[in-house]
Amino acid sequence: MKVLVTGAGGSIGRTLGRGLPRLGHELRGLDLAGEPVPGYDAGWIIGDCLDPAVVDAAVRGVDAVVHLAGNPEEDSLAASLQSHVHTTGRLLDAMVRHGVDRIAYASSNHAVGRTPSGETLTTSARPRPDTYYGTAKVAAEALLSLHVDRHGMSAVAMRIGTVEDEPTTVRQLSTWLSPADAVRMVDAAIGVPAPGYTVIYGISANSRGWWDLGPGRAIGFDPQDDAEAFAGSILPRPEDEAENAFAGGPYALPDLERPAF
Ligand SMILES: NC(=O)c1ccc[n+]([C@@H]2O[C@H](COP(=O)([O-])OP(=O)(O)OC[C@H]3O[C@@H](n4cnc5c(N)ncnc54)[C@H](O)[C@@H]3O)[C@@H](O)[C@H]2O)c1
Repeated sequence: MKVLVTGAGGSIGRTLGRGLPRLGHELRGLDLAGEPVPGYDAGWIIGDCLDPAVVDAAVRGVDAVVHLAGNPEEDSLAASLQSHVHTTGRLLDAMVRHGVDRIAYASSNHAVGRTPSGETLTTSARPRPDTYYGTAKVAAEALLSLHVDRHGMSAVAMRIGTVEDEPTTVRQLSTWLSPADAVRMVDAAIGVPAPGYTVIYGISANSRGWWDLGPGRAIGFDPQDDAEAFAGSILPRPEDEAENAFAGGPYALPDLERPAF
């Protein structure tokens, strides 16, 4: 499949550059700046997802879009909406113009980050963001749903946990998504055959995981790694208990609270 990856120069974009071509995909990358990343053999576009001319050129001729571009940290409400919602809207407009009907979106656990731990977190839980970042992810998910209903697209919102080579905190023993599983997840998300809107949780098959992997498995995402393999090397920290109280971990703590305007 010919795939546009936005934010291709970032951490997850580089991971996909290593993994998706091995599964037969041909990648075109888009990022704000920087050198082309290995694995992106179908072209590298430097530009902003907010620019309609840039996204038009980027989307032309692809079969699917993987939208990663955006600031993965907390910011002001206005900047968060621009980074996650406006970029998604620009891409969806271009997809409609060019007849591209599949998108896998890098949403986040922070869309439901204020959900207390204790019970399995399902994808039918109410949107419960922990930050303006998470609020923007909720709104971007809503835009996907709107476009599925209006245009018959296939859209998968991947609520990603923590993508790192290895988990390094106690929370990450439940939220870790290994790089290999991240590739498996995106491969499954762009391969969904029928139109529709799906939300999945993007974590590995962690023994301590408490986010429902069922919807991911239903679209063919079968994670193979388990953070537990690293448990012996992770030292407990005083903040572990607070970080484990909510799905969003440190983002759900009061330090990030600030007025919207
Ligand atoms: N890494 C994680 O653990 C994690 C967890 C949950 C969600 N996510 C989401 O996954 C996506 C990728 O995360 P990452 O860790 O690779 O982030 P990253 O910061 O490493 O990479 C993001 C890339 O997007 C690019 N970018 C930002 N705004 C852009 C724009 N307007 N136009 C074009 N390019 C733009 C940046 O230049 C950067 O290279 C983000 O949307 C993030 O919110 C990541």
